[in-house]
Amino acid sequence: MTIHIGAAKDDIAPTVLMPGDPYRAKWAAETFLDDARCINQVRGMLGFTGTWHGHPVTIQGSGMGMPSLSIYANELIRDYDAQTLIRIGSCGGMQDHVGIRDVILAMTATTLSTPSRGIFKDLNFAPCADFGLLAAAHHAALAKGTTTHVGGIYSSDVFYDERADLNDQMMRHGILAVEMEAAELYILAARYKRRALAVLTVSDHLITHEALPAEDRERSFGDMVEIALQAAFA
Ligand code: ADE
Repeated sequence: MTIHIGAAKDDIAPTVLMPGDPYRAKWAAETFLDDARCINQVRGMLGFTGTWHGHPVTIQGSGMGMPSLSIYANELIRDYDAQTLIRIGSCGGMQDHVGIRDVILAMTATTLSTPSRGIFKDLNFAPCADFGLLAAAHHAALAKGTTTHVGGIYSSDVFYDERADLNDQMMRHGILAVEMEAAELYILAARYKRRALAVLTVSDHLITHEALPAEDRERSFGDMVEIALQAAFA
Protein backbone atom coordinates (compact mmCIF):
# COMPACT_ATOMS: atom_id res chain seq x y z
CA MET A 1 0.00 0.00 0.00
CA THR A 2 1.06 3.57 -0.63
CA ILE A 3 -0.38 6.85 0.61
CA HIS A 4 -2.77 7.06 -2.34
CA ILE A 5 -3.10 3.48 -3.62
CA GLY A 6 -4.54 0.83 -1.31
CA ALA A 7 -3.41 -2.17 -3.37
CA ALA A 8 -1.00 -4.93 -2.37
CA LYS A 9 2.24 -4.97 -4.39
CA ASP A 10 1.19 -7.80 -6.72
CA ASP A 11 -2.29 -6.35 -7.25
CA ILE A 12 -0.78 -3.93 -9.78
CA ALA A 13 0.28 -5.23 -13.20
CA PRO A 14 3.49 -4.12 -14.96
CA THR A 15 1.27 -2.47 -17.62
CA VAL A 16 -0.95 0.36 -16.40
CA LEU A 17 -3.50 2.38 -18.36
CA MET A 18 -4.25 5.74 -16.77
CA PRO A 19 -7.47 7.59 -17.57
CA GLY A 20 -8.03 10.87 -15.73
CA ASP A 21 -11.54 9.88 -14.71
CA PRO A 22 -11.87 7.02 -12.17
CA TYR A 23 -15.28 6.08 -13.60
CA ARG A 24 -13.70 5.72 -17.02
CA ALA A 25 -11.21 3.34 -15.38
CA LYS A 26 -14.18 1.28 -14.15
CA TRP A 27 -15.90 1.36 -17.54
CA ALA A 28 -12.71 0.42 -19.43
CA ALA A 29 -11.89 -2.42 -17.02
CA GLU A 30 -15.44 -3.83 -17.19
CA THR A 31 -15.54 -3.47 -20.98
CA PHE A 32 -12.09 -4.66 -22.04
CA LEU A 33 -10.56 -6.78 -19.26
CA ASP A 34 -11.35 -10.31 -18.15
CA ASP A 35 -11.72 -11.00 -14.43
CA ALA A 36 -11.40 -7.30 -13.56
CA ARG A 37 -11.36 -6.59 -9.83
CA CYS A 38 -11.17 -3.29 -7.99
CA ILE A 39 -7.74 -2.84 -6.40
CA ASN A 40 -7.97 0.77 -5.26
CA GLN A 41 -10.68 2.94 -3.82
CA VAL A 42 -8.61 5.46 -1.85
CA ARG A 43 -10.13 8.95 -2.34
CA GLY A 44 -12.49 7.40 -4.91
CA MET A 45 -9.61 7.21 -7.41
CA LEU A 46 -10.64 3.77 -8.63
CA GLY A 47 -8.16 1.23 -9.96
CA PHE A 48 -8.84 -2.21 -11.46
CA THR A 49 -6.66 -5.17 -12.42
CA GLY A 50 -7.62 -7.93 -14.84
CA THR A 51 -6.28 -9.52 -17.98
CA TRP A 52 -6.43 -8.62 -21.64
CA HIS A 53 -5.82 -11.57 -24.00
CA GLY A 54 -4.13 -13.27 -21.03
CA HIS A 55 -1.85 -10.31 -20.20
CA PRO A 56 -2.22 -8.71 -16.75
CA VAL A 57 -3.31 -5.06 -16.96
CA THR A 58 -4.14 -2.41 -14.36
CA ILE A 59 -6.37 0.54 -15.19
CA GLN A 60 -5.86 3.23 -12.54
CA GLY A 61 -7.44 6.70 -12.52
CA SER A 62 -4.93 9.57 -12.42
CA GLY A 63 -7.21 12.48 -11.61
CA MET A 64 -7.07 15.74 -13.55
CA GLY A 65 -3.91 17.77 -13.98
CA MET A 66 -0.23 17.04 -13.63
CA PRO A 67 0.01 17.37 -9.81
CA SER A 68 -2.58 14.59 -9.46
CA LEU A 69 -1.17 12.36 -12.19
CA SER A 70 2.30 12.81 -10.70
CA ILE A 71 1.19 11.32 -7.37
CA TYR A 72 -0.26 8.18 -8.97
CA ALA A 73 2.50 7.71 -11.55
CA ASN A 74 5.24 8.16 -8.92
CA GLU A 75 3.67 5.54 -6.66
CA LEU A 76 2.94 3.15 -9.54
CA ILE A 77 6.54 3.38 -10.73
CA ARG A 78 8.46 3.60 -7.47
CA ASP A 79 6.36 1.38 -5.20
CA TYR A 80 4.62 -0.99 -7.62
CA ASP A 81 7.35 -1.18 -10.28
CA ALA A 82 5.01 -0.36 -13.20
CA GLN A 83 6.98 -0.63 -16.45
CA THR A 84 4.58 0.61 -19.12
CA LEU A 85 2.25 3.52 -18.40
CA ILE A 86 -0.22 4.66 -21.03
CA ARG A 87 -2.42 7.67 -20.46
CA ILE A 88 -5.85 7.29 -22.06
CA GLY A 89 -7.83 10.50 -21.98
CA SER A 90 -9.56 13.31 -23.74
CA CYS A 91 -8.10 16.41 -25.32
CA GLY A 92 -9.12 19.63 -27.04
CA GLY A 93 -8.30 19.87 -30.77
CA MET A 94 -6.05 22.77 -31.80
CA GLN A 95 -5.72 22.38 -35.59
CA ASP A 96 -8.28 22.64 -38.39
CA HIS A 97 -7.41 19.17 -39.71
CA VAL A 98 -7.98 17.56 -36.28
CA GLY A 99 -11.61 16.53 -35.83
CA ILE A 100 -13.81 15.58 -32.90
CA ARG A 101 -13.47 11.82 -32.13
CA ASP A 102 -10.07 11.62 -33.84
CA VAL A 103 -7.30 9.89 -31.93
CA ILE A 104 -4.08 11.72 -31.11
CA LEU A 105 -0.84 9.86 -30.36
CA ALA A 106 1.29 12.33 -28.45
CA MET A 107 4.85 12.16 -29.76
CA THR A 108 5.88 15.09 -27.53
CA ALA A 109 4.20 17.07 -24.78
CA THR A 110 5.09 20.75 -24.60
CA THR A 111 4.49 22.37 -21.23
CA LEU A 112 5.00 25.58 -19.30
CA SER A 113 5.10 23.89 -15.93
CA THR A 114 4.93 20.43 -14.39
CA PRO A 115 5.59 19.19 -10.86
CA SER A 116 9.09 18.38 -12.19
CA ARG A 117 9.72 21.91 -13.42
CA GLY A 118 11.95 22.82 -10.47
CA ILE A 119 14.59 20.17 -11.17
CA PHE A 120 15.23 21.46 -14.68
CA LYS A 121 15.71 25.11 -13.65
CA ASP A 122 15.99 27.18 -16.88
CA LEU A 123 16.38 24.11 -19.12
CA ASN A 124 13.49 23.31 -21.44
CA PHE A 125 13.43 19.53 -21.17
CA ALA A 126 11.55 17.94 -24.11
CA PRO A 127 9.13 15.26 -22.79
CA CYS A 128 8.57 12.60 -25.44
CA ALA A 129 6.79 9.27 -25.82
CA ASP A 130 8.45 5.86 -25.95
CA PHE A 131 9.04 5.27 -29.65
CA GLY A 132 8.23 1.54 -29.57
CA LEU A 133 4.85 2.21 -27.95
CA LEU A 134 4.18 5.10 -30.31
CA ALA A 135 4.98 3.04 -33.41
CA ALA A 136 2.88 0.11 -32.16
CA ALA A 137 -0.06 2.39 -31.34
CA HIS A 138 0.15 3.96 -34.78
CA HIS A 139 0.13 0.53 -36.38
CA ALA A 140 -2.89 -0.53 -34.29
CA ALA A 141 -4.78 2.68 -35.10
CA LEU A 142 -4.16 2.30 -38.84
CA ALA A 143 -5.33 -1.33 -38.73
CA LYS A 144 -8.50 -0.22 -36.96
CA GLY A 145 -9.17 2.53 -39.48
CA THR A 146 -9.38 5.18 -36.75
CA THR A 147 -8.57 8.70 -37.93
CA THR A 148 -5.33 9.28 -36.07
CA HIS A 149 -2.79 12.09 -35.82
CA VAL A 150 0.75 11.73 -34.48
CA GLY A 151 2.59 14.81 -33.25
CA GLY A 152 3.05 17.30 -30.47
CA ILE A 153 0.46 18.09 -27.84
CA TYR A 154 0.34 20.78 -25.16
CA SER A 155 0.03 19.73 -21.51
CA SER A 156 -1.53 22.77 -19.89
CA ASP A 157 -1.90 23.42 -16.19
CA VAL A 158 -5.05 25.49 -16.73
CA PHE A 159 -8.38 24.27 -18.15
CA TYR A 160 -10.12 27.65 -18.17
CA ASP A 161 -7.17 29.40 -19.77
CA GLU A 162 -7.36 33.18 -20.11
CA ARG A 163 -3.91 33.35 -21.73
CA ALA A 164 -5.29 33.24 -25.29
CA ASP A 165 -1.89 34.19 -26.68
CA LEU A 166 -0.36 30.95 -25.37
CA ASN A 167 -2.92 28.78 -27.16
CA ASP A 168 -2.35 30.87 -30.32
CA GLN A 169 1.39 30.17 -30.16
CA MET A 170 0.72 26.45 -29.67
CA MET A 171 -1.56 26.37 -32.73
CA ARG A 172 0.92 28.41 -34.76
CA HIS A 173 3.62 25.85 -33.98
CA GLY A 174 1.54 22.86 -35.07
CA ILE A 175 0.48 21.53 -31.67
CA LEU A 176 -2.38 19.11 -32.33
CA ALA A 177 -4.31 19.26 -29.07
CA VAL A 178 -4.34 20.33 -25.44
CA GLU A 179 -4.74 18.16 -22.34
CA MET A 180 -3.39 18.37 -18.80
CA GLU A 181 -1.32 15.31 -17.85
CA ALA A 182 1.00 13.78 -20.47
CA ALA A 183 4.12 15.93 -20.00
CA GLU A 184 4.61 14.90 -16.37
CA LEU A 185 3.99 11.24 -17.26
CA TYR A 186 6.67 11.42 -19.98
CA ILE A 187 9.13 13.13 -17.63
CA LEU A 188 8.64 10.50 -14.90
CA ALA A 189 9.01 7.69 -17.45
CA ALA A 190 12.27 9.24 -18.66
CA ARG A 191 13.55 9.63 -15.08
CA TYR A 192 12.80 6.04 -14.09
CA LYS A 193 13.47 4.43 -17.51
CA ARG A 194 9.93 3.22 -18.09
CA ARG A 195 7.79 3.29 -21.24
CA ALA A 196 5.08 5.92 -21.56
CA LEU A 197 2.60 7.09 -24.17
CA ALA A 198 -0.55 9.21 -24.26
CA VAL A 199 -3.39 8.00 -26.50
CA LEU A 200 -6.05 10.69 -26.57
CA THR A 201 -9.52 11.18 -28.03
CA VAL A 202 -10.50 14.66 -29.21
CA SER A 203 -13.55 15.54 -27.09
CA ASP A 204 -13.78 19.26 -27.84
CA HIS A 205 -12.25 21.76 -30.22
CA LEU A 206 -10.66 25.11 -29.50
CA ILE A 207 -11.19 26.44 -33.05
CA THR A 208 -14.63 25.10 -33.97
CA HIS A 209 -15.96 24.96 -30.37
CA GLU A 210 -17.60 21.59 -31.13
CA ALA A 211 -17.86 19.08 -28.30
CA LEU A 212 -18.42 15.33 -28.35
CA PRO A 213 -22.02 14.56 -27.41
CA ALA A 214 -22.27 12.47 -24.24
CA GLU A 215 -23.88 9.51 -26.06
CA ASP A 216 -20.93 9.25 -28.51
CA ARG A 217 -18.27 9.23 -25.85
CA GLU A 218 -18.14 5.53 -25.03
CA ARG A 219 -17.67 4.29 -28.57
CA SER A 220 -15.03 6.88 -29.35
CA PHE A 221 -13.17 6.27 -26.12
CA GLY A 222 -13.31 2.52 -26.79
CA ASP A 223 -11.08 2.86 -29.86
CA MET A 224 -8.50 4.66 -27.75
CA VAL A 225 -8.48 1.92 -25.07
CA GLU A 226 -8.07 -0.83 -27.66
CA ILE A 227 -5.23 1.04 -29.37
CA ALA A 228 -3.48 1.46 -26.01
CA LEU A 229 -3.85 -2.23 -25.12
CA GLN A 230 -2.65 -3.39 -28.54
CA ALA A 231 0.36 -1.07 -28.34
CA ALA A 232 1.29 -2.28 -24.83
CA PHE A 233 1.50 -5.92 -25.92
CA ALA A 234 2.66 -5.59 -29.55
N1 ADE B 1 -9.08 17.90 -22.02
C1 ADE B 1 -10.10 17.80 -22.89
N2 ADE B 1 -10.36 18.98 -23.47
C2 ADE B 1 -9.49 19.86 -22.94
C3 ADE B 1 -9.26 21.22 -23.12
N3 ADE B 1 -10.00 21.92 -23.97
N4 ADE B 1 -8.28 21.83 -22.40
C4 ADE B 1 -7.53 21.10 -21.53
N5 ADE B 1 -7.71 19.81 -21.31
C5 ADE B 1 -8.67 19.19 -22.02
